Amino acid sequence: MLSKLFTIAAIALTAVHAQTASTFAFTETYPTSGSKPTPKAEWVTEMNAGSIAAAPVLKESGSNGPKQTGSGDTYCDWTFTGCTRATDIVACPKGQWGITYDDGPTQFSSKLYDFLDTTKQKATLFMIGGQVVQYPELVKRAFDSGHELAIHTWSHSYLTTLSNEQIAAELKWTELAIKEVTGVSPRFFRPPYGDIDDRVRDIAKNLGFTPVIWNHDTDDWMLAESTSFKESWVDGNATQWANNAATSTVGGVSLEHDLYEKTVDAAIRILPILQKAYSVTTVGACSGQASYKEGSVPVKNATSSAVPSAASSAGISSGIAGPSSAGPNSSSAASSSGVIAAGSASQAALDSGAAGVAKPVFATLALVAVAASYLA
Ligand SMILES: *[C@@H]1O[C@H](CO)[C@@H](O)[C@H](O)[C@H]1NC(C)=O
Ligand SMILES: *[C@@H]1O[C@H](CO)[C@@H](O)[C@H](O)[C@H]1NC(C)=O
Ligand SMILES: *[C@@H]1O[C@H](CO)[C@@H](O)[C@H](O)[C@H]1NC(C)=O
Repeated sequence: MLSKLFTIAAIALTAVHAQTASTFAFTETYPTSGSKPTPKAEWVTEMNAGSIAAAPVLKESGSNGPKQTGSGDTYCDWTFTGCTRATDIVACPKGQWGITYDDGPTQFSSKLYDFLDTTKQKATLFMIGGQVVQYPELVKRAFDSGHELAIHTWSHSYLTTLSNEQIAAELKWTELAIKEVTGVSPRFFRPPYGDIDDRVRDIAKNLGFTPVIWNHDTDDWMLAESTSFKESWVDGNATQWANNAATSTVGGVSLEHDLYEKTVDAAIRILPILQKAYSVTTVGACSGQASYKEGSVPVKNATSSAVPSAASSAGISSGIAGPSSAGPNSSSAASSSGVIAAGSASQAALDSGAAGVAKPVFATLALVAVAASYLA
């Protein structure tokens, strides 16, 4: 615990010192980084223009996120049963790979962006609102490089534990910050921890957002947070996914982070492995959907799917999946339960029980953000 606190403090201090003064002037007054914001009135009106599933607001259970009980899954909760809806993007079509990085921009993002530029690779970047406000130059750079910018909420909270209004605020404040910097409003969002149910889906839909989950998890965050997690595991899994390219029925969407230097280094090591086996591209390009509400900025050298949303109507074969592919918890039944069919409230992993998973990385992020804004 002490060493963990020390690490957090050290990262926070580094973040503060590494930050070069931003010259970008935001006009909005944004919520504090890492806080759970409240929405503007017009966002609530927009949210309530469509119906919203009456799923209960779940209780957080420590750092493990919401705990579901019972065996039913009325509201299609992905971390609970692996359930997805047709509108969720979980995978790219066969032969394609959606490469995604979460939690940026951070002080380590430029190292990743530099590498992506050298291999002319475009990626989907799920950004945290507070980080956008802290690093607008990096956001601008990523956009100008042709990456697809997307939303990873304001405070990185478990969305199923928030009120409707709070969920709207998480999405819209982050959208607004990205829009101020780039002029575009992302359509794609990734629920932190993959924590999504029908209430979250409906709110997002009413506000014009499409959820993106994943079917291949690198567990890269553990490189920075667990001393027993081996670097070679990330590479080993990527190699396995590459080897499965020919036989798997769908492609991939992977989960990585530009949150730590170690995760960026791992991302740099495994990208060439995936590039050899798949057409690596953005989520928008492989799903045939527009990146932004204003339309798509053409992604150069990306392969577009002729079938919009192909990923969300195809089954996800566990055959292509790494051990931690289908759910956020590598040992959850959702990961090994075979086909999870998006579009049919799949209950493939119904017997998994609560697949609650502690991802302390995000608690760390919030603390870093809070510490950074306090010190800054
Ligand atoms: C696109 O790919 C071609 C062929 O690989 C390459 O010559 C070109 O520089 C690439 N353009 C961009 C913008 O990445
Ligand atoms: C894949 O990663 C898991 C941990 O997430 C690890 O246990 C496993 O050994 C890795 N597989 C390979 C082939 O390295
Ligand atoms: C994953 O879930 C299993 C059983 O639900 C649990 O024992 C394990 O601690 C979880 N792993 C992580 C990393 O949270």
